Amino acid sequence: DPNAPISVDPFRTVAKEMKFLTKNIRQLLGSGHPTLDTVSKYYTQSEGKYVRPMLVLLMSRATALTEKTEREISPFSVNRPLTEPSVLADENPSAPDATAYTTASSIAPDATYRSEDSDILPSQRRLAEITELIHTASLLHDDVIDHSVSRRSAPSANIEFGNKMAVLAGDFLLGRASVALARLRDPEVTELLATVIANLVEGEFMQLKNTASDERNPVWTENTLTYYLQKTYLKSASLISKSCRAAAILGGSSPEVVEASYQYGKNLGLAFQLVDDMLDYTISGEELGKPAGADLELGLATAPLLFAWKDNKSLGKLVGRKFSENGDVQRAREIVSESTGLEQTRALAQDYVDKAIQSIAFFPESEAKNGLIEMCTKVMQRRK
Ligand code: FPP
Ligand code: MG
Ligand code: MG
Repeated sequence: DPNAPISVDPFRTVAKEMKFLTKNIRQLLGSGHPTLDTVSKYYTQSEGKYVRPMLVLLMSRATALTEKTEREISPFSVNRPLTEPSVLADENPSAPDATAYTTASSIAPDATYRSEDSDILPSQRRLAEITELIHTASLLHDDVIDHSVSRRSAPSANIEFGNKMAVLAGDFLLGRASVALARLRDPEVTELLATVIANLVEGEFMQLKNTASDERNPVWTENTLTYYLQKTYLKSASLISKSCRAAAILGGSSPEVVEASYQYGKNLGLAFQLVDDMLDYTISGEELGKPAGADLELGLATAPLLFAWKDNKSLGKLVGRKFSENGDVQRAREIVSESTGLEQTRALAQDYVDKAIQSIAFFPESEAKNGLIEMCTKVMQRRK
């Protein structure tokens, strides 16, 4: 049936590249210090979902077919501001260490990459690895901050090795990611991914509070959702959007294609985290591979609860004290389950996914483009 919806396994489209990913990441993480080597490679043992590298590879392939332009180097000022405007305010924003423990061979040589028979550039493959390194670094730190006990169905690194080693390993990953990034010799891409690292921390700081105000009995306003979505952009969508943008830049794409890649990543990234916050309410810990219902226990008011709060103002007090009193978590859970919060969260995620698909609609038809569209479906269907 030629009219049947095309179903592509996005993994298959870039399967060959993905096969090398873990091996290359482990090479980027090599350290002559045996304990550091073990701790920093710990999360590469369990198979992650590799959402970010997969998106980078698919975007690289999908944009390979689009129009190329000569890069215009934007006027450079060392003094230009480091902070960006709110992503929601503007829908259209534009050598190995010299330590005894490090050997030159601990960074994967470029020879690892076969250049034949692929429209993905070596620099784009490396970018895919860098995104996974930054993501894994943030998980190492996140599990310390969240006092996690498990991740990917195994004890989390903080439990296995202790907080100190988990934090230091995260820093090591960022260091190695930075070296690999510098080797791409592209200042714009370096700036994008460096900004991501700062954004992750900014998002985590925003999350220390549930609302912009720090009142004990906050009232629901439109700004409540805006604050949550800006936090969500910083902690999740920034990495996905800016790495998609970087993939298009490395491929020499036109400004329109670069911007479309960014919009795809931003909207998919927001949807991805909205679904994550929904699954925290709906899926068992066993299925998730990490404790479920963790957000309320951590004092976090995410989308399902914020939507429920709009209709049930009694939640304000609980939000203000971060569900810290006896019975608060249980009470909040009940109010959310009796509300339309989960449905509204799913609907908002669907809106973002639709926007993601819309932003790359003008890309030429290809298997990779279908893979990017399929990723949107996968995000909405995922259970972990
Ligand atoms: C997972 O969120 C965590 C993140 C998306 C980012 C966390 C960022 C930091 C800890 C700042 C430090 C950043 C770097 C780059 C070292 P979650 O806790 O909601 O998800 P989970 O259920 O998977 O733990
Ligand atoms: Mg966490
Ligand atoms: Mg967290």
